[in-house]
Amino acid sequence: MAPAFRSRPFTSMAQTFISLNDGNKAPWLGFGTGTALFGKDAAESVSTAIQTGIRHLDGAQAYVNEDSLGKGIKASGIPRSELYVVTKLRETVPAGTTPKSALQESLKKLGLDYVDLYLIHSPFKAAQEGKLKEWWASMEETKNEGLAKSIGVSNFYVDHLKTILEDAKIVPAANQIELHPYILKAAQPTLDFCKERDIVIESYGGLTPVARVPGGPVDPVITAIAERLSKETGTVVNSGQVLSKWLLQKGIIVITTSSKVSRIQEALAVSSLPDLTVEEIKSIENEGSKLHKRIFMKHVFNE
Ligand SMILES: NC(=O)c1ccc[n+]([C@@H]2O[C@H](COP(=O)([O-])OP(=O)(O)OC[C@H]3O[C@@H](n4cnc5c(N)ncnc54)[C@H](OP(=O)(O)O)[C@@H]3O)[C@@H](O)[C@H]2O)c1
Repeated sequence: MAPAFRSRPFTSMAQTFISLNDGNKAPWLGFGTGTALFGKDAAESVSTAIQTGIRHLDGAQAYVNEDSLGKGIKASGIPRSELYVVTKLRETVPAGTTPKSALQESLKKLGLDYVDLYLIHSPFKAAQEGKLKEWWASMEETKNEGLAKSIGVSNFYVDHLKTILEDAKIVPAANQIELHPYILKAAQPTLDFCKERDIVIESYGGLTPVARVPGGPVDPVITAIAERLSKETGTVVNSGQVLSKWLLQKGIIVITTSSKVSRIQEALAVSSLPDLTVEEIKSIENEGSKLHKRIFMKHVFNE
């Protein structure tokens, strides 16, 4: 029988978390240092995000800025124990290195003893080389040795997950994928498989309908919901917040980023907004299914 699905959001000490299958918990909202901050000094943005209330930082070896992520964490003045820090294994692991040795390098750059979550960033090269299981075994070592509190994957689809699960001793805690209404239909088999195995989904690209594909079919629906929530709360609620609320209500961790304090504040406010109704969720998903848009990893899917 499939294990109970545990990724329901819960609130503790005024913060909303998502439970992971290994007993750990992750703050529902992560601040990303890829996309807009890729290859850039992220220290100031990270420090500002933490001071604004962010506790979950999403980094990666491929973003070439782990050292500045570490500086931003230190500059924030918030104790390490209150932060949730993520990094991801680069897409290729050069000869003589392993996912574990790559994490040890990352920890030096970050200036940390451990990360809260270590993800395989992308399965595609490893799958081509037949190395997915070998990589996962090394990921498991990082958890067993306390270098990573939790381990997981990113951009994994059902076949990649099935491959590592054949020999896995530890089930991935999370799978970080592109997720917004315009890719929900394509992602559904992965979402279903992850739900069965109690693997939490983390979304990136969640603001695509407002930030990258405005004017699409979900616009009227999310605008109407934002108006309903604005009236009900007496504050201005926008369409981006509605998209994040939709993800959170599905038990999904939201990874976003912003250069603006006001947008970080808006994102943080989402967890305390009233819930979307079942009908509102259905309309977002029905309208979203009318358009397919993939923004990231298009080359892999020939799109
Ligand atoms: N695992 C992976 O392969 C992968 C891939 C992609 C991303 N990620 C992670 O996810 C993080 C977030 O990714 P994302 O950028 O795709 O997140 P997102 O939440 O979809 O988009 C955030 C971006 O949208 C802009 N934005 C927000 N509201 C807007 C509006 N109303 N109009 C126009 N622009 C608006 C923000 O710009 P402002 O600065 O103006 O607010 C920001 O640059 C990355 O930093 C990275 O950590 C992971």
